[in-house]
Amino acid sequence: MADRAAIVTGASSGIGLAIARMLGQQGYGLTLAARRPDKLEAAAEALRGEGFDVEHVAGNLGDEEAVKQVVAAHRERYGRLDVLVNNAGVGIGAPVADIQTKHLDIQLATNVRSIVLFYRESMEMLRAAGAEHRNALVVNTSSLRGKFGQAWLSVYSATKHAVVGWTQAMHKELSADGIKSTALCPAFVDTPMTEFVKGQVAADDMIRPEDIAIAVRALLEMSPACIVPEIQFIRPGDAL
Ligand SMILES: NC(=O)c1ccc[n+]([C@@H]2O[C@H](COP(=O)([O-])OP(=O)(O)OC[C@H]3O[C@@H](n4cnc5c(N)ncnc54)[C@H](OP(=O)(O)O)[C@@H]3O)[C@@H](O)[C@H]2O)c1
Repeated sequence: MADRAAIVTGASSGIGLAIARMLGQQGYGLTLAARRPDKLEAAAEALRGEGFDVEHVAGNLGDEEAVKQVVAAHRERYGRLDVLVNNAGVGIGAPVADIQTKHLDIQLATNVRSIVLFYRESMEMLRAAGAEHRNALVVNTSSLRGKFGQAWLSVYSATKHAVVGWTQAMHKELSADGIKSTALCPAFVDTPMTEFVKGQVAADDMIRPEDIAIAVRALLEMSPACIVPEIQFIRPGDAL
């Protein structure tokens, strides 16, 4: 049984998969969650093949029951939670007059609601870890669009601002109990999510998912006395 355990959402590709791999390398028992079962299964198998201890639960994390299932499966397997990575997210662009209610709801549910529910469902295990070593960590993937709004990505920008606000509130509410919260705010990262823009911005000119994982690893190495509420990742020449 691993001494430390982590849940990573949106772990089937991109940033979440890179963070999960890093946590596996650091010896964490992992529970991976994402939406599409086949894709998640392939990611979980790849990480098991690298020698890591991996549970996986597929589901739409905008759905409360799915969030509960992920946390319950994790508790059952590992009995502890030291790191929670709320990374699953979706962006659907549209000019304001064309925003579809369905797309508004999907982004609110995946990007914001699921994070609130994951905190709530994980509180008991996070509090136990915080009491044990004062260094429980929750990482919430926001975006640079969570600091600076973007035309046509207005709903996405609003949800990612909400992630930053939520993270600040959790910092104030929980850090004295040994539970830190950090919001990650990256510009373009080379993942499936940015396929739509690779005609204009080359993948090599984007941040690598591994760059984000390096930052999370640094957070894990910091002492309980050090809290980093937010990390922005920008690229040369990025307009803020
Ligand atoms: N790439 C960027 O430039 C960039 C920049 C700033 C912030 N971000 C944020 O980084 C996070 C990860 O994105 P990524 O770039 O790594 O893209 P990605 O490779 O497409 O990963 C997105 C992950 O979220 C999962 N997901 C999406 N909707 C879900 C839902 N309703 N329920 C459960 N899982 C769901 C996906 O699973 P399925 O594939 O099965 O849907 C996938 O595992 C997102 O929150 C995104 O907003 C990305």
